[in-house]
Amino acid sequence: MSISRKRLGVFTSGGDCPGLNTAIRAIVAHATLSYGWEVLGILHATQGLIERKAIPLNAEGLGGMDVLLNMGGTILGAINRGDTLGRADEVIAGYNELGLDALIAICGDGSLKILHQLAQKGNWNFLAVPKTIDNDVALTDRAIGFDTAVNTVVEALSRITSTAASHDRVFVVEVMGRTAGHLALYSGIAGGADIILIPEIPYSIEGICQHLQKLRDRWGRKFALIVVAEGAKALEQDANHCHYSSIAHYIADKIAQYSPIPIELRVSVLGHIQRGGAPMAMDRLLAAGMGHTAVDLAAQGTFDRMVAWQAGQVVTVPIADVVAKCPRHVDPDSFLIRTAQGLGIYVGDKPMLPYVDPTLCRNEVICAI
Ligand code: F6P
Repeated sequence: MSISRKRLGVFTSGGDCPGLNTAIRAIVAHATLSYGWEVLGILHATQGLIERKAIPLNAEGLGGMDVLLNMGGTILGAINRGDTLGRADEVIAGYNELGLDALIAICGDGSLKILHQLAQKGNWNFLAVPKTIDNDVALTDRAIGFDTAVNTVVEALSRITSTAASHDRVFVVEVMGRTAGHLALYSGIAGGADIILIPEIPYSIEGICQHLQKLRDRWGRKFALIVVAEGAKALEQDANHCHYSSIAHYIADKIAQYSPIPIELRVSVLGHIQRGGAPMAMDRLLAAGMGHTAVDLAAQGTFDRMVAWQAGQVVTVPIADVVAKCPRHVDPDSFLIRTAQGLGIYVGDKPMLPYVDPTLCRNEVICAI
C-alpha cells in the first residue's frame, strides 16, 4: 500500500485519564513527520464520526505540540456512554465520508469491545492503544493513565495519614475500580494502607473490625487507613448497601455498628481527582512508545491489533484476543497480594498463601509489577 498522503484518524474514547494528549502528540508527530500522513482528530470519538466533526492535527497547528506533553484530559474530547452500536451505520458512514485510510482509537476495554464490532462491520483499518486508570485492559501489563493515578492516590493517602494519625481516626478512602482492584492494590501498598478491599477478594466487616483491633493490640495504634475500590464485594451481600451514596460510606457505617470498640471514622471519596492532572513520566513514556508503534503498524498496513506493554517492552496483540479476555482482574494468588499480606495488610477474607520461591514465579513478578 502506498503511504503518500494517507489520512489517519485518531480519537480518544471512554473515561479520560492522564497521558491521552501525550499519545495524540506521539501519533501526530510520527505520522506527519516520519510518514507524511495527514492526521484528523475526531472529536468525542464515535460521536464525532456520526456528526463528521474532526480537526486537522499537525505539528505546526499544535504549536510544536510540546504543550500536549503536559496536559491532562484530552484535546479531542471523549465519550463513555450512548447507544453506539444502535447507530452503527451512521458511525461507519462517518469513517467512510471522512475519507480515513486508518483509525487509531486510544481507549479502554468497554470502548474497545464496541469499536472492534464496528471495525469488523465497517471493514475499517483499525488499531487501538490502551488507556485507563483501572489498568484492566487484557493482555497488557499497563494502560496509559494508571501510573499517574496510582501516584495521585498515594499522594492523597500520605496527606490523609497525617490527619488520621493526629486525630486517632480511621479513614475509609474510596478509589475508582468498578470491576478490577489494580488501582486500590498498587496505591494501597505504596501508600501504607492497613486494609485494601478489591472486587476480586470478598471482605467481611468482621474481618475488618478484627484487623483494626489487632492494630491497637499490637502497636497501640488507633488510626488506620482503609483503601476500598468502588466495586469491592462483601462475603455476604447486604441488600442495604445500595442505600448508601458510596461503598466507603457503607463500610464506615458498618464498622461503626459492629466494632466492639468505639472508633472515630471519616470517609474520603477521591473520585475524578484520580483521572485528572498532568501525566507522570511512566505514562508519558508509555504514551509515546505506544502511539509511535501504532503509527508504524498503520504504515505497514497491519491492522486489528492493540499496542500493549508486556515484560518491559511495547508489543502488539490481536484486538479479538484482548476483547475475549477483558476485563483483566487482579489475580488473588498474585505476587502483589502475597506482598500485601506479608506487610500485614488485610486484603479480604483470604488465607495467607504459602511461600513460593521467587525464581519459580519470576514471570509473574515481572508481569505483576
Ligand atoms: O473506567 C474508568 C473509571 O474511572 C471507573 O473506574 C469509574 O467507575 C468510571 O470511570 C467513572 O466514570 P464516569 O466518568 O462516567 O463517572
